[in-house]
Amino acid sequence: MSSSNAGIREVRVWDFPTRLFHWTLAVLIVVAWLTGEEEGAAAIHRFAGEAIAGLIVFRVIWGFVGGEHARFSDFAAGPRLISGHVKNVLSGKPERHLGHNPLGGVAVFLLLIVTALVVATGLFSGDEGFAGPFAGMWGLELSELHEGLFRVLQALVVIHLIGVAVESALTKDRLTPAMVTGRKKRRADEAGADAREAPAIVLLAAALVGFATSALLMSLPASQVSNGDDAHQEEMEHEDED
Ligand code: HEM
Ligand code: HEM
Repeated sequence: MSSSNAGIREVRVWDFPTRLFHWTLAVLIVVAWLTGEEEGAAAIHRFAGEAIAGLIVFRVIWGFVGGEHARFSDFAAGPRLISGHVKNVLSGKPERHLGHNPLGGVAVFLLLIVTALVVATGLFSGDEGFAGPFAGMWGLELSELHEGLFRVLQALVVIHLIGVAVESALTKDRLTPAMVTGRKKRRADEAGADAREAPAIVLLAAALVGFATSALLMSLPASQVSNGDDAHQEEMEHEDED
């Protein structure tokens, strides 16, 4: 419900699941980053990465059936809307949006896709005493790709933070507090209604599928592949055969 205060009202924008998803994702990515190169922290790294897998699965479902501004259809924008928004940003006067702006929408899709790719390649990565459950399956050992994609993700996160800072400054919308409280401030005469929320049963179903994904991945044993070097790996396989 909106509350009024001297002509300023608060509009509900981000539902609780979207906010919980966002901040859990951010924390877990930092955890995965800090533990990615620590052999002693392999279990934590795997746990964080596989928890992120469930979060991504949840967010994809939520993008179709979640609250109004969490839906992909709410922020998927074509080239005209995106370039129009870029022009407005460059002229210093971007229009305000209740949900993601058209450029922010692109960033959200890229963040989700690249995070999913980092997780997927992680499952196929293997280093000494530190391997994902699928490393070596179909002859795949993807730790180099995993690391490369993580660098792309890092760059995207930096761009994301710059984007949030620039848009917040230019629109005077306090975007980060909005991702915490779920609300944005609007003048009483300005357009914008509380977001439609998804039914609890839909949330329950999406959350269950997300949890099940993580639980399934976490229950798999680590692969025994112990080195990312293809030639060396083949050599070892031959030795096993002898
Ligand atoms: C590893 C770090 C982070 C990742 C991977 C990340 C990722 C994302 C994603 C995927 C969304 C879309 C949310 C959704 O619709 O589900 C988003 C939105 C957002 N994030 Fe982050 N985020 C990170 C860190 C941060 C931090 C540190 C801040 C604040 C300082 C922040 C502020 C925001 C804000 C304000 C939005 C909403 C943007 C808008 O109003 O359109 N994020 N982020
Ligand atoms: C978003 C999630 C993830 C992030 C951000 C991430 C990040 C990283 C980083 C930064 C490294 C260090 C690369 C290097 O400099 O050597 C790494 C290595 C590794 N990760 Fe992940 N990771 C994620 C998910 C996963 C998952 C789900 C698994 C497997 C279950 C996994 C398994 C591994 C393995 C086995 C290595 C060592 C590979 C090697 O050094 O040869 N990661 N990860």
